[in-house]
Amino acid sequence: MDAFYAALLGYVVGSIPFGLLLTKAAGMGDVRQIGSGNIGATNVLRTGNKGLAAATLVLDLVKGLAPVAIAGQLWGEVAMAFAAGAAVLGHCFPVWLGFKGGKGVATNAGVAFGLAWPLGLAYAFIWLSVLAIFRVSSLAGMAAVVAAAAAAPLFGYPQFFPVLAAIALLIIYLHRANIARLMKGEEPRIGGSKE
Ligand code: G3P
Repeated sequence: MDAFYAALLGYVVGSIPFGLLLTKAAGMGDVRQIGSGNIGATNVLRTGNKGLAAATLVLDLVKGLAPVAIAGQLWGEVAMAFAAGAAVLGHCFPVWLGFKGGKGVATNAGVAFGLAWPLGLAYAFIWLSVLAIFRVSSLAGMAAVVAAAAAAPLFGYPQFFPVLAAIALLIIYLHRANIARLMKGEEPRIGGSKE
């Protein structure tokens, strides 16, 4: 039952659509109607409001971190893995939005920190490094999710590899339109003319 409660906690917390709630509260309308239609921080940034984008990033990260940390305190590592997977599923497929949510990159950053801080550091390092070099949010996010999964066995956390690998596959699948644009050289850059 612990795994069930952990998954329920992860899903409910993960499904809070902060990007949508913040942009609506700020009177900016529905973020799903602009840019990529995504509810994540990258698309919130396309509203031109950097503060809202930063808040979305932090809150989406915390909603991945919190359920995993709570599950770890209450139930142990198996429950942490369930909370982790469910938090990302909640963000990507929120019941409140007809199961159309975000792509999970920020929430999975919180998940990685919640599972084990070295995995979170690996995630953040790759995410920020690729972003600094290429200035393409989707590419940085995909690199980070793969890095976290690869880091799990390398850094001594093989028990978390299955859930991080499954999350990585899901997040890459959700970026299929981004991948198509990347291959055509049409993916917008952060701060670029197309943003
Ligand atoms: O975290 C989402 C990001 O990787 C891509 O967002 O809006 O450019 O599709 P977007």
